[in-house]
Amino acid sequence: MAILITGGAGFIGSHFVRRMVKHSHVVVLDKLTYAGNLENLRDIREDRELSGYFKFYKGDICNQELVDHVMSTEKIDVIVNFAAETHVDRSILSAGTFIDTDIKGVFVLLEASRRYTIKKFIQISTDEVYGTAFHDAFKETDSLNPSNPYAASKAGGDRLAFAYWNTYKLPIIITRASNNYGPYQHPEKFIPLFITNAIEGLKLPLYGDGRQERDWIHVEDHCAAIDFIIENGKEGEVYNIGGGNEKQNIDTALFILSVLAKDKGMIESVKDREGHDRRYALDCTKLKSLGWKPQIDFEEGLRDTIKWYEENEQWWKQIKNGEFMKYYEIQYNHRFAGKN
Ligand code: NAD
Ligand code: DAU
Repeated sequence: MAILITGGAGFIGSHFVRRMVKHSHVVVLDKLTYAGNLENLRDIREDRELSGYFKFYKGDICNQELVDHVMSTEKIDVIVNFAAETHVDRSILSAGTFIDTDIKGVFVLLEASRRYTIKKFIQISTDEVYGTAFHDAFKETDSLNPSNPYAASKAGGDRLAFAYWNTYKLPIIITRASNNYGPYQHPEKFIPLFITNAIEGLKLPLYGDGRQERDWIHVEDHCAAIDFIIENGKEGEVYNIGGGNEKQNIDTALFILSVLAKDKGMIESVKDREGHDRRYALDCTKLKSLGWKPQIDFEEGLRDTIKWYEENEQWWKQIKNGEFMKYYEIQYNHRFAGKN
């Protein structure tokens, strides 16, 4: 099987590449934006045995000519589209690239799928498309209410993929996962930012009252679910993928500090995210009824993740300079100044 993994140099994509390359011919198409990092794939590229099953193309999923070239040269059977602009805070600062990649990019991949015969197309969506879970956990049939530019752009890609199944009968499946954590996550995101700031002795900027809730899933559980869905999922369907670990941000922050034996005074309550979704929660009965369930205990997974960041300082220190520090100043200086 030849599988095209777009965004394969990012956080989740690189874990998925590592999983699939053991039994499939893996082709990665990645633009290598600030979030893409070939270091995430170093072990695979350097493994003589695995590297024979792995090919990397640097490029944009919005580039139709390039996508066609990859599809025809590599004879792709399955597409898994991870490529996206993914950080909510960056989408609030500037949404243009989110519209390009998360909507137009999906369109280009879908059009290419009409021209070349594919067996499956998995569109990686997100639980953010549902908006805040005020009451029960969301089911796949609940209506979408995306409430920040990132979530809205992902909802566009999600519904466009569905439309191509409905209209052209392309073999499309959509997944909506909850918050991932694990090794190789970019330090702009909450868990790696708090771990690395704590290691560096910097303040931990907790938005608002810190009582927002997120349902955390280990990235390897998420990748196992996608692999399972390729085999067992039904075309035209949406599958929620949640970890079943709903935590308030303040509690996750305190847990990180306790594992690192750091003072809880390092947490600083800062100005809240604009339009901050209060709670995400997923009902995963549909996927579980097919036989999938998450395996990794949250506290154990988070301890291992913290250890990974302690042991891989070089990986994140290379990221936490240059462009990142400029972003950090724009994103956080006024928040620390304005506090709550
Ligand atoms: P990430 O930001 O770590 O990686 C995104 C990757 O996509 C990077 O390698 C980047 O270079 C690449 N990319 C961006 N624009 C591109 C373009 N135009 N063409 C080709 N490549 C491009 O993201 P992630 O956290 O690994 O998320 C992967 C996918 O999973 C995204 O679609 C995201 O919406 C979805 N998702 C993420 C989470 C989460 O908690 N991280 C949860 C649910 C769903
Ligand atoms: O739910 C799935 C989504 O999870 C994915 O679709 C997104 O790509 C991914 O980035 C993530 O979005 P969140 O906005 O939930 O994740 P983030 O890590 O940015 O923030 C998690 C929570 O922590 C959120 O309530 C905001 C809060 N936070 C975040 C940062 C970066 C802080 O309190 N301080 C921070 O500095």
